[in-house]
Amino acid sequence: MNAAERWQRMVEAEHAQSDRARWEAPPSDHWKPYAENFRADPLRTDDELLDRLLEDVRPEDRVMDVGAGGGRLALALALSCGQVVAVEPSQSMGSVLLDEARTHGIGNVSLVEARWEDAEVEPADVVLCCHVLYVVHDVDVFVRKLNDHARRKVQVVLYDRSPQFQNSPLWELVHGEERLQLPAVPELREVLQEMGVDARFDPLPPHPSRGFDSVEDAVGQLTARLYLAPGGEKQKLLEESLPGLLVEEDGIFRIRGTPELTPMVVSWQPRG
Ligand SMILES: C[S@@+](CC[C@H](N)C(=O)[O-])C[C@H]1O[C@@H](n2cnc3c(N)ncnc32)[C@H](O)[C@@H]1O
Repeated sequence: MNAAERWQRMVEAEHAQSDRARWEAPPSDHWKPYAENFRADPLRTDDELLDRLLEDVRPEDRVMDVGAGGGRLALALALSCGQVVAVEPSQSMGSVLLDEARTHGIGNVSLVEARWEDAEVEPADVVLCCHVLYVVHDVDVFVRKLNDHARRKVQVVLYDRSPQFQNSPLWELVHGEERLQLPAVPELREVLQEMGVDARFDPLPPHPSRGFDSVEDAVGQLTARLYLAPGGEKQKLLEESLPGLLVEEDGIFRIRGTPELTPMVVSWQPRG
């Protein structure tokens, strides 16, 4: 089995485990409950990831943000380049992006509401894809398309391990089995090597999980993320256990002992 097939196996196994745990059919727009979390001030000056991405962006550039979400990066990048094309299949995420663009008077961002696999777009100078690959099935085809649409630089951002790793202890508590993990940077390294892509891997400072505003917020979000039926036995177990598992720091509640995640910027010059 090659690296791309191993990647696909991991994605399929994690998705199958999620499907077994669900009490209702998956929603048509998975991101709807979370889209609001992806609003970010495009004028912020304290974002190390953004600063790193901007190192590769020139004022006249056309930038493509694949899986742009609510425009956290696309809108900030648009302030420093000629044009941004945001490819984003989730309607709720796209609405947040357009709303933020309007609020901040950013007119050089266009939205293509499509999966990258299906998107028909012109090439760009820089192609960015941030925290999207974890769930992509045919990673080599997806990455090849990123490469083929970039004139000067491809930037892929992923954590050193899949972000839902932080919920694994709770998954094990309520579902009684080990949580299967999605692929992340170590697996991407092997895929790129196999594809003959000579990439640079730049780690950024590790950071803790986003956390929750309150215990109730944690119960609500984790009920959804662990696919629990509201009011069911498993949700009751979560509700009973959570207060003892959360630690509060500066008003943010986090699951005790969850490791930090290290974001990595994986970049390369595209080759034919
Ligand atoms: C974790 S969010 C990241 C959003 C944004 N890149 C950021 O870093 O704030 C992942 C996004 O990837 C999008 N996505 C998932 N699969 C995709 C695909 N096949 N093609 C394009 N976007 C995809 C989702 O809709 C979601 O908005």
